[in-house]
Amino acid sequence: MAKMEVKTSLLDDMIGVGDMVLLEPLNEDSFINNLKKRFDHNEVYTYIGSVVISINPYRSLPIYNPEKVEEYRNRNFYELSPHIFALADEAYRSLRDQDKDQCILITGESGAGKTEASKLVMSYVAAVCGKGAEVNQVKEQLLQSNPVLEAFGNAKTVRNDNSSRFGKYMDIEFDFKGDPLGGVISNYLLEKSRVVKQPRGERNFHIFYQILSGASEEFLCKLKLERDFSRYNYLGLDSARVNGVDDASNFRTVRNAMQIVGFMDHETQSVFEVVAAVLKLGNIEFKPESRANGLDESKIKDKNELKEICELTGIDQSVLERAFSFRTVEAKQEKVSTTLNVAQAYYARDALAKNLYSRLFSWLVTRINESIKAQTKVRKKVMGVLDIYGFEIFENADNSFEQFIINYCNEKLQQIFIELTLKEEQEEYIREGIEWTHIEYFNNAIICDLIENNQTGILAMLDEECLRPGTVTDDTFLEKLNQVCATHQHFESRMSKCSRFLNDTSLPHSCFRIQHYAGKVMYQVEGFVDKNNDLLYRDLSQAMWKANHSLIKALFPEGNPAKINLKRPPTAGSQFKASVATLMKNLQTKNPNYIRCIKPNDKKAAHIFNEALVCHQIRYLGLLENVRVRRAGYAFRQPYEPCLERYKMLCKQTWPHWRGPARAGVEVLFNELGIPEDEFSFGRSKIFIRNPRTLFKLEDLRKQRLEDLATLIEKIYRGWKCRTRFLLMKKCQIVIASWYRRYAQQKKYQKIKSSAITVQSYIRGWKARKVLRELKHLKRCNEAATVIAAYWHGTQARRELKRLKEEARRKHAVAVIWAYWLGLKVRREYRKFFRANAGRKIYEFTLQRLMQKYFLEMKNKMPSLSPIDKNWPARPYLFLDSTHKELKRIFHLWRCKKYRDQFTDQQKLIYEEKLEASELFKDKKALYPASVGQPFQGAYLEISENPKYKKLKDAVDEKIIIAEVVNKINRANGKAASRIFLLTKNNVLLADQKSGTIKSEVPLGDVTKVSMSSQNDGFFAVHLKEGSEAASKGDFLLSSDHLIEMATKLYRTTLSQTKQKLNIEISDEFLVQFKQDKVCVKFIQGSQKNGNIPTCKRKNNRLLEVAVP
Ligand SMILES: Nc1ncnc2c1ncn2[C@@H]1O[C@H](COP(=O)(O)OP(=O)(O)O)[C@@H](O)[C@H]1O
Ligand SMILES: [Mg+2]
Repeated sequence: MAKMEVKTSLLDDMIGVGDMVLLEPLNEDSFINNLKKRFDHNEVYTYIGSVVISINPYRSLPIYNPEKVEEYRNRNFYELSPHIFALADEAYRSLRDQDKDQCILITGESGAGKTEASKLVMSYVAAVCGKGAEVNQVKEQLLQSNPVLEAFGNAKTVRNDNSSRFGKYMDIEFDFKGDPLGGVISNYLLEKSRVVKQPRGERNFHIFYQILSGASEEFLCKLKLERDFSRYNYLGLDSARVNGVDDASNFRTVRNAMQIVGFMDHETQSVFEVVAAVLKLGNIEFKPESRANGLDESKIKDKNELKEICELTGIDQSVLERAFSFRTVEAKQEKVSTTLNVAQAYYARDALAKNLYSRLFSWLVTRINESIKAQTKVRKKVMGVLDIYGFEIFENADNSFEQFIINYCNEKLQQIFIELTLKEEQEEYIREGIEWTHIEYFNNAIICDLIENNQTGILAMLDEECLRPGTVTDDTFLEKLNQVCATHQHFESRMSKCSRFLNDTSLPHSCFRIQHYAGKVMYQVEGFVDKNNDLLYRDLSQAMWKANHSLIKALFPEGNPAKINLKRPPTAGSQFKASVATLMKNLQTKNPNYIRCIKPNDKKAAHIFNEALVCHQIRYLGLLENVRVRRAGYAFRQPYEPCLERYKMLCKQTWPHWRGPARAGVEVLFNELGIPEDEFSFGRSKIFIRNPRTLFKLEDLRKQRLEDLATLIEKIYRGWKCRTRFLLMKKCQIVIASWYRRYAQQKKYQKIKSSAITVQSYIRGWKARKVLRELKHLKRCNEAATVIAAYWHGTQARRELKRLKEEARRKHAVAVIWAYWLGLKVRREYRKFFRANAGRKIYEFTLQRLMQKYFLEMKNKMPSLSPIDKNWPARPYLFLDSTHKELKRIFHLWRCKKYRDQFTDQQKLIYEEKLEASELFKDKKALYPASVGQPFQGAYLEISENPKYKKLKDAVDEKIIIAEVVNKINRANGKAASRIFLLTKNNVLLADQKSGTIKSEVPLGDVTKVSMSSQNDGFFAVHLKEGSEAASKGDFLLSSDHLIEMATKLYRTTLSQTKQKLNIEISDEFLVQFKQDKVCVKFIQGSQKNGNIPTCKRKNNRLLEVAVP
């Protein structure tokens, strides 16, 4: 939401009156009371028109924060309560928008807050003007020049802990957009006497204390300084420390500021070296020394300090020493050297210190200017801020040349204030076309004239005295003054011929008194001539120029012997006069903005408002006159637009809107309100109100009207609120009602709907049932009809069937009867042709035919001639069953015979053997089936061929039936050993496999039995006849791969030789005679882990176990 523009005025919530012009009644008391009232309420700013009166609060108020800056930014001067920011904003905007160069003139006594005010103005302008890296750097440099100059140019005085001891005018330059470009600082007459001597309760310039407190040990050592203030004669011991001032931290701030402003490190270093040198100069002391020629001479007491200064500044010690002892005067091309007495030596020392310091200060200003000067050549807008030392009066005639100069400067400022304020006021009336009558006010031009008049002015006379040949003293100067100025209204002196002050004991003889605009000031004439001369012996400036220190050298250009200038340099007074004149000229070209600072008390204390003190300041500042001048014409003025805006509610025609020019609106308004004609005047752009009372009346009316309006607004608002609420409630009610109605209707509808559905469903049910009933009836009728029809058809069909059956039976009977009849007829007819046994013959014939057919068919269906072919055709007739079987048997026998007939004798033998084997082992030994396919070879070992077995062959002369390698099982452990097994017609032989040596020979007659298992192994035992020769060694337990063949052949050979059948025992457990013992050989089902080979193991003495896989 856009922020509502609130038009405010300084008249809102005003404490007292914000603008003195509105003060009623106007007199000194009311003026001061108003200030006091405002001061007590923390309102330290009050206006007189566009002039800001500022009362030093002596404590920080929360009215300078960024929020305040924002508040005052771009607001009209009279829009908010009085503030220095309003003035700064007005000046800045006028500069930026109307292209008017500005100056801000800040005046007031020492300690009234001028310097603070100038800083506030600068910081405000810095805050509101353009932003950006470059602009910010410029701003920062401009702002940071302050701490540097304050450190070197400010000091604690009795009036102000941070009193500016120089005048400062700073031009801030802006570009057309209002962005700062840079600045130029002018400085005015530093109070250099402070360097060597300070009044009671005051301090030297801050920098000296800062350097001693804040510099590091190392840095101090470099500068040959000690931290102790009391070591330095130039630092008055009095109040060396200031409450609330931290010199050490300020030193850091200053160094930092110097860096920001752009001082190079070596420059900073040089600056501090000069400061140190000045401080140490104070410690040089002299003692008198009388010379023979009666001349007084002085001598440096302790040269150590001098030596250190010279080391620090690079000055030849002897040169400086000489400069402190002699003075060379050049007259008419002749150089005359005179010695200096102790007083002169001290004078020279102090002069050097003062000059060094003040020149250093000027150099600093120049150096800062170099840094902050605008970098472009484009046309600049300028805002000047003048912060000059305030009017200063010491008691007890302690006022000296410096105060005279300071007060002169203030006098000039007052002058310009009077001139510009009145001029501006007058010009405004002329601009606005208002009639203007001149107003009397005190014009201090006369005082200015007393001081600066070129012939009879005090400064002119001082110069004259200084230049005059002969003895010149302060007294001669005073005498002269007495002569020339005696008649001047503002000059007072006891010596003057004018008898007015002859008896005034308050005025010492060595003093003169000036009635300044701000009060009477008594000046002690002592030191005027000297200070005006500002004399530095040439020997010293030359010594300085010779320094091996670029800064010091640069500070004393006149010390260069090549540039000796015999002309006297301008006096301090004339220099100052000239620079003030330039300043005034400069100020006159700019639009002035005044800040008049007032000191509320002498104690630098917050909350204390010393009415007498303030009254004094008001008087000499001529503030009351200021108000009067402003009110003489018209107390209050305001452009038409804001005026109309503020008061338009007071008249029906202008409220709430006036359509037309603002001026006409204001005219209507004022007419309507019946304000007397002479109370106001219409300018070109502003309305001028003569008497504050009128304004206040307007304000009262406005306030009253505002209350009425507020009531009205409240009334309308309340009405509106109630109405809105009512409307809202009505709307709500309608919404609720509509929703409820809808809901009720919905409910009702649903009820009707469900009833309708129920009714409907009943009717539908009833209808359906009716239809169903009809349909069922119909169906039953149909079914009944069908049943009846079916029954009827059944009856008919059965009747028909019965009829047909009857008919068929009849027909069959007819046929049978007919056949019988025919048969009978035939038999009767053919009986005579048939024999008696013809039936049998037909039967046999038929049988014969069948048999014939059977055999013919069999011929074609014959199976193959293979004896193992099991096929045989099926029998065709049951009665041939036995025949058919017989025929099959015959055929099989026949084809077997046929098969046998093909065999040779040898084949026959083989088959005989195989047959024998079959008879012996078929279905008895598991090994048998595998042997069927293997032909029996008998001689597996070719004994006759192998020469190894020649001996064996020779030993056996009979025909060998079996020659084979067998394993003989060792009876002791069951292990096998290879043997050659030989079977001849009569014997069984076992021979060594390797050598062929015969191990045993058993005649077949001694073999009683052969035992073997029923399993798939090749073990067998050959049992021998007990008592026979061969049996002595025991039975043989052998194993062979051809067990079946060997057993068969052994059987057959034994049968043919002995005509006895060999006993072949097939059992899984049998006894074998081993020598004396009988051992049981037992066959068990073994594991497959040894492959398919049976293993034999001796289990114990009586058991040999053979594991067959
Ligand atoms: N606006 C202010 N707010 C708070 N303190 C202020 C203000 N103006 C001045 N002072 C106090 O008064 C002292 C003196 O002010 P200063 O500006 O140095 O006086 P002048 O320059 O007129 O001699 C400051 O050091 C500060 O303590
Ligand atoms: Mg100051």
